[in-house]
Amino acid sequence: GATIAIIVAAGRGERAGGDIPKQFRRIGGRAVLAHAFDRLVEHSEIDGILLVTGEGQEQAVMEAMGGRSPIATILGGATRQKSVRAALEHLASAGSPSTVLIHDAARPFLSSAVIDRLLGALDDAKGAIPVLPVVDTIALGDNVLGEVVDRSVINRVQTPQAFAFAEILAAHRLWSAETDATDDAQILRAAGHDVALVMGDRMLEKLTLPEDFSAAEKVFAGSRS
Ligand code: CTP
Ligand code: MG
Repeated sequence: GATIAIIVAAGRGERAGGDIPKQFRRIGGRAVLAHAFDRLVEHSEIDGILLVTGEGQEQAVMEAMGGRSPIATILGGATRQKSVRAALEHLASAGSPSTVLIHDAARPFLSSAVIDRLLGALDDAKGAIPVLPVVDTIALGDNVLGEVVDRSVINRVQTPQAFAFAEILAAHRLWSAETDATDDAQILRAAGHDVALVMGDRMLEKLTLPEDFSAAEKVFAGSRS
């Protein structure tokens, strides 16, 4: 069956500030969204990209994509979880792929090695995600220091996240928590499936705050020279 990558790009990028949502800003002359798109579409095992964008973003999307063609562009929801759900339902009504990768547009520097690791891990699991270890001391506290948390049992979770389509669709439909989930792996896990962890990549860091953009521009310039 087919492997489809979903790019969620329907957010407003409020923490990043700026005149336009972060996924449409340019790094190295290319929109953040276009970087993510290119890295996914270039992978030989990915058959197509489904793009999820927000209301009123049509013009910005067209400019950012510069002629690149997703299999479809659909409207997202008010939260990331709702945007992913809309994408999964769209795919279900369009014939259901066997595998999906779900990726944040705000993570432009995706390597093919990460995709290889994820798809490899799907041979033995219904879900696989890239993670990085925590290197700082992690402590509770609010004004005054609280308990230190054992960082060896903590992971920093990235995207893309890879799933068997039928299972992640069913898990999204089952999710009943009051608050929306910030990623999809926790939704698959809540439905009773094991999620495999594979090695992530520092280049996959999400662009979230204003200063992330100047840092990314520098990293990108360095990686080309
Ligand atoms: N996203 C989405 N639909 C939403 C919210 C987020 O598709 N309703 C996407 C964003 O476009 C982004 C990814 O989910 O690519 C990760 O979310 P986040 O980093 O939180 O982006 P924003 O929600 O846009 O940023 P912020 O939370 O700072 O407003
Ligand atoms: Mg957000």
